[in-house]
Amino acid sequence: MPINCAVLLSGSGTTLENLMGCIARGELDVTIQCAVSSRRDAYGLERARNNGIPAEAVHKGDYARWEDFDAALWDRVGAYSVDLIVLAGFMSLLSVPERFVNRIMNVHPGLIPAFSGKGMYGRRVHEAVLAYGAKVTGATVHFVDEEYDHGPIILQECVPVLDDDTAETLEARVQAKERELYPRAIQLFAEGRLRVEGRRVHAL
Ligand code: GAR
Repeated sequence: MPINCAVLLSGSGTTLENLMGCIARGELDVTIQCAVSSRRDAYGLERARNNGIPAEAVHKGDYARWEDFDAALWDRVGAYSVDLIVLAGFMSLLSVPERFVNRIMNVHPGLIPAFSGKGMYGRRVHEAVLAYGAKVTGATVHFVDEEYDHGPIILQECVPVLDDDTAETLEARVQAKERELYPRAIQLFAEGRLRVEGRRVHAL
């Protein structure tokens, strides 16, 4: 039986596209029940609809207070019955209700805890890695808690930084790694093979 997921996004939706491709090829035992965006102009919403997935926006800019945005978002997601929430380029902090502890995943385009936290997302991570002169970076899939890029790490792998890299070339190499790690982590969850012990996640 496939597990049911909600995908939360804010932007172009390449992460969602990859997951939909994996599902279509039978590599991921997941049904995406809905896509919810924090921006009404996110292209990811269109990608979802093109694949017959209900898609809606809870536009963060419409809310003066984060708490109200967060409540509205959970209200929308709560309309679906889901086992797992998958953050796919979702650029906001989220509260984590008890029933979703270790049931929300995120992919970060770097090696957490380096180059992560508030304001460190997307292309900015790769610019920071290059500016610092780091020789390796990578991708991290982790469970989400109520701090930015902070919950228990599920899968994490390195990507080399090359001498002639620009933020764009580095981003492309890291995103290729994300496209490999994220479905792997979600499939482990779907198969009930992840055990969390404090900060450590064991794949059985
Ligand atoms: C990915 O590189 C992902 O790691 C990053 O957004 C990109 C995908 O966006 N997410 C973060 O930085 C979250 N902290 P997209 O799926 O909208 O194309």
